[in-house]
Amino acid sequence: MATMPNIRVNQERLWQSLMDMAKIGATEKGGSCRLALTDLDKQGRDLFVRWCKEAGCTVAVDRMGNIFARRPGRNPDLAPVVTGSHLDTQPTGGKFDGVYGVLAGLEVVRTLNDHGYETDAPIEVTVWTNEEGSRFAPSMTASGVFAGAYTEEYAHAIADDQGKTMGEELKRIGYLGDRPCGGQKFRAFFEAHIEQGPILEAEKRTIGVVIGAQGQRWFDVTITGQEAHAGTTPMPRRHDALLGAARLVDRINAIALAHAPHGVSTVGVLRVSPASRNTIPGKVHFTVDLRHPGDEALARMKDSLEAALSAVCGELGLAHELKQVVHTKPVVFDGDCVDAVRKAAGECGFGSMEIVSGAGHDACHINRVAPTGMIFVPCADGISHNEVESATPQDLAAGCDVLLRAMLERAVL
Ligand code: GLV
Ligand code: MN
Ligand code: MN
Repeated sequence: MATMPNIRVNQERLWQSLMDMAKIGATEKGGSCRLALTDLDKQGRDLFVRWCKEAGCTVAVDRMGNIFARRPGRNPDLAPVVTGSHLDTQPTGGKFDGVYGVLAGLEVVRTLNDHGYETDAPIEVTVWTNEEGSRFAPSMTASGVFAGAYTEEYAHAIADDQGKTMGEELKRIGYLGDRPCGGQKFRAFFEAHIEQGPILEAEKRTIGVVIGAQGQRWFDVTITGQEAHAGTTPMPRRHDALLGAARLVDRINAIALAHAPHGVSTVGVLRVSPASRNTIPGKVHFTVDLRHPGDEALARMKDSLEAALSAVCGELGLAHELKQVVHTKPVVFDGDCVDAVRKAAGECGFGSMEIVSGAGHDACHINRVAPTGMIFVPCADGISHNEVESATPQDLAAGCDVLLRAMLERAVL
């Protein structure tokens, strides 16, 4: 492009939009709870759609409920330059995870409008459905369908704990669009996000130039023992499923420690059955989240998980089932998009550093079908997936300025 206009986003407006969105599903400790495809998720979507229409965008919704708000360009034949993230949250989520990436995109549109600035390629802001994976596993479902990792049929059939499916819930909240999910070309995709970890803050850098993301494997584990009377069953005769699970939680922690410094492992859900004080637990269901930036190391972590299950269950006379529900390979983002982010940060005068994402993001899927890059900004103490999650208005605006410049670099010929 010829010359980059020296325009900056409106920090106060971006902050106010984040605070307004956070009121939907606001929690006592200052966070947000908008689980995917609930009534609160619908309210958040409706607010975003209204803001986009007020900003002059046309809005389309696909069959996975992904929202695409388009600001036209001079050349309608060009594929759009796209940005976005998610509006759903964890059950005890913060105000910024995902929401920032969506509203930073809206702020880019509003800023271009303020300056009457026309791009050649259209600009689009997306909301991807069910990024968090908290209500419906796997996470990043709808960006995954868009990128061809899953089929629409598979995703529509995913059920929550109550047996409600994504397809039914999309229809119920009015976001089952008629556009097929996927197949649209993007000139580039950028996602802005809080880092969700402590590195940028510790290194005193404003912008993380994200070069890739670590791989993930998620599992559902069921341990089956024998329900029996808590008072009459001698200790040596027990087949206590919870005792097996307890030993496994510690072993699973040790698997990550054996893959230090990059390996991480989490048991996040534990359900005990029949959950009665005076019955020895006969069944336990738990989840495992394993992550590592190297796919081979991640495969070794999986092997260790299988070995730990066999060993612990063997010792206690328990049966086990292991089902892998997610495998996303480590991601390397597009070199040109990464360079555009680095260059934009430099031109804006922000300190930056390269970083690998510990979290999964919709960008990880979109990277399969479009040149993709990400921008991180610091969050306080690196805390995320927590109601206290916090980021400064200045850093959030800085990330948005970088997003604006990186998008213009691609959208103006
Ligand atoms: C998304 O929040 C993840 O689990 O990384
Ligand atoms: Mn997120
Ligand atoms: Mn998240």
